[in-house]
Amino acid sequence: MYRQLADYYDEIYHFKNYRKEAEKIETLIEQDKKSPGDHLLDVACGTGNHIAYLKQHYKVEGLDFSPEMLRIARKKHPDVVFHRGDMTSFKLKNRFDIITCLFSAIGHVRTKTLMRKAVRNIASHLEPGGLMILEPWITPANFHKGIVGFNSVDKPNLKIARINISKVRGPISAFEYHYLIGTPSKVQHIAVFDGEGLMGRGLYLGVKP
Ligand SMILES: C[S@@+](CC[C@H](N)C(=O)[O-])C[C@H]1O[C@@H](n2cnc3c(N)ncnc32)[C@H](O)[C@@H]1O
Repeated sequence: MYRQLADYYDEIYHFKNYRKEAEKIETLIEQDKKSPGDHLLDVACGTGNHIAYLKQHYKVEGLDFSPEMLRIARKKHPDVVFHRGDMTSFKLKNRFDIITCLFSAIGHVRTKTLMRKAVRNIASHLEPGGLMILEPWITPANFHKGIVGFNSVDKPNLKIARINISKVRGPISAFEYHYLIGTPSKVQHIAVFDGEGLMGRGLYLGVKP
């Protein structure tokens, strides 16, 4: 999914207020973190949009599974260390005072077993008193199937129309996205069945004993 869409990710999510979200995260860190340090890891960091603000206050590193997303993040933040890894299995030498996993990226692991594995693995990289901030997937009570959504980008050399439908397949709730992406050389249609994190889903916070 992100291999095909990485180059357009920031354009597609132009409406997302990363600055405001980072400010909220900073407030939570000030309130809840118990460890003394300021070493932060953003797991599933994507193109590094939260990192743009978080790096002003913390010693930040990023981690993501997608080489294409990481390529963009590294270009935007040559001053930040990025790791390629899977949230369910990455192993880093460092321990962190704060680990974030935002925009419902945890939803990509799809099963409860892998979700538990991811949370355990993230927790194992926290310092004692360190804080985990996890933005969850939509709860079953809040997920409504059959909702049609629309988003667009209208720039001189880039037009994107995205239509999505919310669906339920067995135990998995997801969005089916159809992208029409027009550039001066071609128009491509990309269809993906996967999740998207909307804002306002709440946050889970955990402090490591
Ligand atoms: C919705 S994007 C969120 C990116 C970023 N946190 C943001 O708020 O813009 C989800 C990200 O999760 C990454 N991802 C998906 N599965 C992953 C996994 N198992 N381990 C690490 N990253 C993963 C994708 O490559 C993608 O960059």
